[in-house]
Amino acid sequence: MKAIDLIQQIPSLSTFKKYGRVSRVVGLMIESQGPESSIGDVCKIHINSFKNGHSVILAEVVGFKEEIVVLMPYTNIREISTGCLVEGTNSPLEVKVGPELIGKVLDSMGNPIDGTVLSKGLKTVGTEQDPPNPLTRPPIHERIEVGVKAIDGMLTVGKGQRVGIFAGSGVGKSTLLGMIARNTNADLNVIALIGERGREVREFIERDLGKEGLAKSIVVAATSDQPALMRIKGAFTATAIAEYFRDKGLNVMLMMDSVTRVAMAQREIGLAVGEPPATRGYTPSVFAILPKLLERTGTNEHGTITAFYTVLVDGDDMNEPIADAVRGILDGHIVLDRSLANKGQFPAINVLKSISRLMNHISEEDHKKAAQHLRDLYFTYNKSEDLINIGAYKRGTSKEIDEAIKYEPLITAFLKQGYLDKVSIDDTVNELVSLSNGGV
Ligand SMILES: Nc1ncnc2c1ncn2[C@@H]1O[C@H](COP(=O)(O)OP(=O)(O)OP(=O)(O)O)[C@@H](O)[C@H]1O
Ligand SMILES: [Mg+2]
Repeated sequence: MKAIDLIQQIPSLSTFKKYGRVSRVVGLMIESQGPESSIGDVCKIHINSFKNGHSVILAEVVGFKEEIVVLMPYTNIREISTGCLVEGTNSPLEVKVGPELIGKVLDSMGNPIDGTVLSKGLKTVGTEQDPPNPLTRPPIHERIEVGVKAIDGMLTVGKGQRVGIFAGSGVGKSTLLGMIARNTNADLNVIALIGERGREVREFIERDLGKEGLAKSIVVAATSDQPALMRIKGAFTATAIAEYFRDKGLNVMLMMDSVTRVAMAQREIGLAVGEPPATRGYTPSVFAILPKLLERTGTNEHGTITAFYTVLVDGDDMNEPIADAVRGILDGHIVLDRSLANKGQFPAINVLKSISRLMNHISEEDHKKAAQHLRDLYFTYNKSEDLINIGAYKRGTSKEIDEAIKYEPLITAFLKQGYLDKVSIDDTVNELVSLSNGGV
């Protein structure tokens, strides 16, 4: 900024600092009289303790109760007491971004947690941004390679498409995300790990992502022991970082594991500030925050963010409220099936229950035809599987079922993929088309 511009800003600058005082603390909720502020503003709470001297914790304004400001801290609180000074900053949470972040593991505030430090002079961006204007969003017309055969072949994803991965616990979500991160031809990955156990973060980085994956990724981790606000911020920070690289014209891959835990964190905050619980205890703000978060990815006039959001489905109940809400917002869903995992079919993608809403717009004609053909055969087999297994089906009764029985092991073999195997999208499509034509 030029000196003259800075000088012109002086008259409009506020020279007063705004303060308030803590009046009550209930659980993680801090009530304070003042400072004058708006929802989303960051406040600094000054704590003076005999033991540790002066310290500052950051908190965010999450609501108001008449004249009282309701704050939630970003960190765990211990020594706070009534009367502590609350300093308003008049600004929402901001994080530092730049190419230097690639290969790093960050917390929700964008600070490295891998022992490295960020250099000065990085760009500062707000974590809460509006989604791109729908009228300036270019339509998606190009496919992206994720390097997983079942997805590239049967559920092709476009650059800038947003897809949900719906699965119960332990069905292979993290492993699948690791495969995608390592194999994709996206320019870089931004991976948000929200609400995972601490052990899982390291496991994911070392085992699923590996050195090769981390070298082209930025990981934002907010573990389950952190306050609800931090877990939500992790999702927003990761999205803001992805947006920065999209604005630089890159094709970014954003992966969020899991969006259900973001919703649960918002439920915690909603209930604490007195929102009424609606469906299954989720408060209305949960359903307001989801589209705000998920609509930020996708295309804009500069670049694209292709996004994979995992959704936990309890007892494989696909109609639970968060799954339902997320499915309505995204452009496709991939269902991981426990019965396939139990049979040892990995990745455990149930192609019959999954859909990519854009596949028809971005794939070649012969690819589409082959995928549809194999899907039909697989469907026929699955429909008659019980009869076939108990020996109640006699070969020759139906030409269709005979054909499906012949093809089933071939399709299953096509869908299976070793966790370290990388297959290019062109090889996948060629294999699929030749499989459909009867060649193997
Ligand atoms: N592609 C694969 N090949 C072989 N085994 C796999 C594969 N994917 C998953 N598994 C097996 O499934 C287990 C669980 O996988 P993973 O940790 O990815 O699941 P998750 O859905 O992320 O679990 P959680 O809900 O606990 O986060 C792994 O430890 C591994 O044994
Ligand atoms: Mg996992």
